[in-house]
Amino acid sequence: MEYMSAKEAAYKWGISQRRVAVLCSEKRIEDATIIGNMWIIPTNAEKPIDARALRYVEKDEKHVKPFLKWAGGKGQLISEIEQYYPFDNNVTKYAEPFVGGGAVLFDVLSKFNLKQVYISDVNAELINTYKMIKKHIDELIQQLRVLQELFLPLSTEDRKLFYNSKRERFNYLKANGDESVNIEKAALMIFLNKTCFNGLFRVNKKGLFNVPMGSYKNPLICDEKNLRAVSSKLENVEIVCGDYRESQRFIDEHTFVYFDPPYRPITDTASFTAYTENLFTDKEQIELARFVDTLNNKGAKVVVSNSDPKNSNTEDDFFDNIYSSHKIKRVEANRMINCQAQARGKVKELLISNF
Ligand SMILES: C[S@@+](CC[C@H](N)C(=O)[O-])C[C@H]1O[C@@H](n2cnc3c(N)ncnc32)[C@H](O)[C@@H]1O
Repeated sequence: MEYMSAKEAAYKWGISQRRVAVLCSEKRIEDATIIGNMWIIPTNAEKPIDARALRYVEKDEKHVKPFLKWAGGKGQLISEIEQYYPFDNNVTKYAEPFVGGGAVLFDVLSKFNLKQVYISDVNAELINTYKMIKKHIDELIQQLRVLQELFLPLSTEDRKLFYNSKRERFNYLKANGDESVNIEKAALMIFLNKTCFNGLFRVNKKGLFNVPMGSYKNPLICDEKNLRAVSSKLENVEIVCGDYRESQRFIDEHTFVYFDPPYRPITDTASFTAYTENLFTDKEQIELARFVDTLNNKGAKVVVSNSDPKNSNTEDDFFDNIYSSHKIKRVEANRMINCQAQARGKVKELLISNF
């Protein structure tokens, strides 16, 4: 019989060496033998089915939550936004063309069993991650497990080195990778999001992810239960990397559309719109408002959110003017206006609707 080392088995099966050792000691790999303190494994051994994966599949998959922390995430506005959900026998489709981390998407998917759902974003790495969760959840979870098992036991200094090497790898793949590295890119995106400072995906002018490591003691890098639930909820969701206008072909009179475009910055110094290499200018906010008019004419039900410019200038009627034919509600949100602590606190957000 031919044997391989635990390291070789770990590489072959896409799991950590430690996990291989655990599987061997649990006698889940036939004919695995210990020599000294090293396991050797028959080269023809099958990778054991992971009991943890099966356990999660059986659990309640109804509730799903965002798998990434995202700049401008709408988690804390759900209780306001859900009041608009118009789903009934007539409104059976949902579109979220600026999906980001998808706080509203996952709330909708948790609460309603809709047949047709459309999401998009211009951020290619973000959309790749949604697609990999949908199509390759097992491989993705394997890779996240390996990252988690390698990262957590390290000292802070070694974590930093590990984090920086993964960040470099992610940026390299982002610039040079082809389709064959899509699962790895998605795993790295989740890993970096869970371990970086403030948990936010930001890129510099060159399009490189440059956020330093955060100081989370025990980050949950591989939230297997939620990821599997998200994967099955995304089964019937159309996922598009592109401009919000592409959603037009999907949207009709049976569709509820939620637009959460990049914020119009509250202050000149707060660059909250830098999610991707692109910024969202006033001209683009106006174009979006006209697009909403087009969807209104199609009979769709639309909600748009944005920051209220009146937070910093009570005379600023920008959104009141561009959405003059729609309803505008001002609601309170806790969020950071700029980097200075004294400027944090309650601000008003706008919820604009055509119904
Ligand atoms: C405020 S964030 C959305 C946050 C999301 N609601 C959440 O809960 O995480 C805005 C998103 O719009 C995306 N975006 C920017 N310009 C876009 C465009 N022209 N078309 C589609 N998406 C765009 C950004 O990449 C970003 O993810």
